[in-house]
Amino acid sequence: MMKKTITGFSKFSKREKIDWIISTFFEDAEVAKKTISQYWNDDKTLQDLHDDFIENTISNFYLPYGVAPNFVINNREYVIPMVVEESSVVAAASLVAKFWSTRGGFKATVISTTKIGQVHFMFDGEFADLKAHFNDSKSRLITATDSITKNMRKRGGGILDIELRDKSSELENYYQLHVTFETMDSMGANFINSCLEAIAKEFNKENSASSVQVQIVMSILSNYVPDCIVRAEVSCPVNRLYKENAELFAQKFKQAVDIANVEPHRAVTHNKGIMNGIDAVVVATGNDFRAIESGAHAYAAQSGAYKSLSQCEIKDGIFTFWIEIPLALGTVGGLTAIHPLAKLSLEMLQKPSASELMEIVAVAGLAQNFAALRALTTTGIQHGHMKMHLSNIIKQLDTSEEEKTYLLNYFEKKEVSHSAVVAAYEKMKERG
Ligand code: HMG
Repeated sequence: MMKKTITGFSKFSKREKIDWIISTFFEDAEVAKKTISQYWNDDKTLQDLHDDFIENTISNFYLPYGVAPNFVINNREYVIPMVVEESSVVAAASLVAKFWSTRGGFKATVISTTKIGQVHFMFDGEFADLKAHFNDSKSRLITATDSITKNMRKRGGGILDIELRDKSSELENYYQLHVTFETMDSMGANFINSCLEAIAKEFNKENSASSVQVQIVMSILSNYVPDCIVRAEVSCPVNRLYKENAELFAQKFKQAVDIANVEPHRAVTHNKGIMNGIDAVVVATGNDFRAIESGAHAYAAQSGAYKSLSQCEIKDGIFTFWIEIPLALGTVGGLTAIHPLAKLSLEMLQKPSASELMEIVAVAGLAQNFAALRALTTTGIQHGHMKMHLSNIIKQLDTSEEEKTYLLNYFEKKEVSHSAVVAAYEKMKERG
């Protein structure tokens, strides 16, 4: 049997990596080679750029880049770029953007922008001694980062505070330096981690001059940012919400949100719908969607139970629907500066600051949630979703252009399902 492990793979050329992968895992080498190479970009400079984003790159994995027009956010008009593989997400965002554009648009506000990093360490001794040692060294810990924070301080950011936290009741001998940061228009991951490592090094150095001996375990930013929060909201009189029986619509919509607040199984799906919008814009702008995802879900579970990220209220005939979500985003640095499509997205969004991008992304999440709940509590989700998914189903049937047009027309006014499309296709074939 051929060995499926290898040493020194990283040192291979791209061609050698592909050859090894193909000869080890694929029966049809030609098909595999063609699939890998057909996604390469002819522009060598662009391909080299993509090759260097990660390690051991052998191809590019395309995702569709769509746009949702007609968003009005804080009285300003936007077209929002969205990178997502799921049909109906962009259509839903577009529909809801248009809907709310005639009802006052979206209102969004950044509540706070504080980021967090921690130096985790062990200490086997009296907390009072540790505290005295920390108080004595705190200003030197900050000074130790001066060269790293110089430019950030010029922009108005930097280290906000360093706090000593006693976690020893949760884990024996465990303490933290809990550091808060303002990173302005950058997401700040590298900046925060560099500061933390400098702080940890200094804290360790202070050891030798003191009887207090700490053991540094690690220094790393936290993707849980409950003080980097944005709120987005829509609001209108209930009677402007839906064409018929608007009151019942509003009531059912609010019930759907309330259910997500008490039932974690529903909350997870509800929030997944929100993340459909959030991730799509986060990816399109070159931001880190894993950081956003983990931070958002931790926030949804902050009470100890996993709950909805959005809320709904009906009061004095006014329907209000809003979201509060932590979003640590950047509009400078990282991929935002080097991925040509991330740059394009930011220009399309009229070159937002990080705070403005937080508002736009939160709005995309709220819009997506509104679309899903509107569909779920009225026609059901499958109606619109399958309507958008129709061309994907047809593609699996290997139709000619003429047959595809026939099927698209046939399902114009009919309910779409996978089996219904297959049945219509087979009937069409039978008729010849
Ligand atoms: P519709 O009313 O049938 O659409 O809605 P329409 O054909 O009447 O067009 C109205 C507008 O919708 C258009 O205006 C577009 O803005 C947009 P126009 O451009 O004509 O002035 N629109 C489109 N935009 C781009 N391409 C298209 C397109 N079609 C319509 N092809 C729609 C159809 C799908 C929008 C609606 O049924 C809908 O919003 N459904 C909900 C879909 C949804 O939420 N999808 C997310 C994925 S489902 C999921 O994963 C999450 C979930 O589990 C979360 C949860 O449980 O909470 C559901």
